[in-house]
Amino acid sequence: MRTIKDLKEMRAFSERAKNHGKKIGFVPTMGSLHEGHLSLVAAAKRKSDIVVVSIFVNPMQFGPNEDFKHYPRHLRHDINLLKNFEIDALFLPEANKLYPDKFAAAVEVGELSKKMCGKSRPAHFRGVTTVLTKLFNIVVPDLAFFGEKDYQQLIIVRRLVQDLNLPIEIISQPTVRDFDGLALSSRNKLLNVKERRSATILHKALSMAKTEIETGERDVNKILFRMRSLIGSEPTVRLDYIVIAHPETLEDVKAIKGKLLIALAAYVGTTRLIDNLMVDA
Ligand code: PAF
Repeated sequence: MRTIKDLKEMRAFSERAKNHGKKIGFVPTMGSLHEGHLSLVAAAKRKSDIVVVSIFVNPMQFGPNEDFKHYPRHLRHDINLLKNFEIDALFLPEANKLYPDKFAAAVEVGELSKKMCGKSRPAHFRGVTTVLTKLFNIVVPDLAFFGEKDYQQLIIVRRLVQDLNLPIEIISQPTVRDFDGLALSSRNKLLNVKERRSATILHKALSMAKTEIETGERDVNKILFRMRSLIGSEPTVRLDYIVIAHPETLEDVKAIKGKLLIALAAYVGTTRLIDNLMVDA
């Protein structure tokens, strides 16, 4: 596994691989890797000739009062995990190289970025799509891998590559969950023991809604009310939003019909977690 910090060196590495007819699979991450990330790396290994993983905690996707400073960082541990996968390159760009003085550009995916998480994190997805555009231009992947836990991000990235004609196939992998259903997230490391226990209410609420829909409930408001009540029973959990939405447009639905996304975000203590489930009504 080669570790590359320099942007030009990363680009040259990819160009050499491409000149040899190799297919590059790319897994962009912010580090503090867990089984969810590793499932993306495993998929990249299966589908590509060359696998590049990046670790970069992207300041542009954090708001002024968010957890950029406290975001978990465990580079040594991450490197050890990646060594088991025999990836080809670990890309560790530096913030002052990706965002030099006078950096002013931004890439934005309009409407989709304003819904769901975009309501309480208005500049978040602009930061995500800007850094991904830069990383895609540097790594030049054929395939890029994203987790379905960050469902809104996945939909926005698909729109990004389509609208900007980027020749990259976006491949998603299912959410990986802990034994009690909690979706794996780097931010779970920020939870104390009590919060970690309370956090399971999020998956319970999503599963309850999914079961209700699968057993015939068709009233969106009743489902949302019962989810809110269940989550409200955990004093350490404060709901940001819940939606039952169209899985492509992310518009709230009025009728329970067809394939639907049930998604939520909530603060557990001070840690913001997201999760979702898909249901077919
Ligand atoms: O999902 C993440 O970890 C980040 O949003 C990403 C895609 C690496 C961009 O910084």
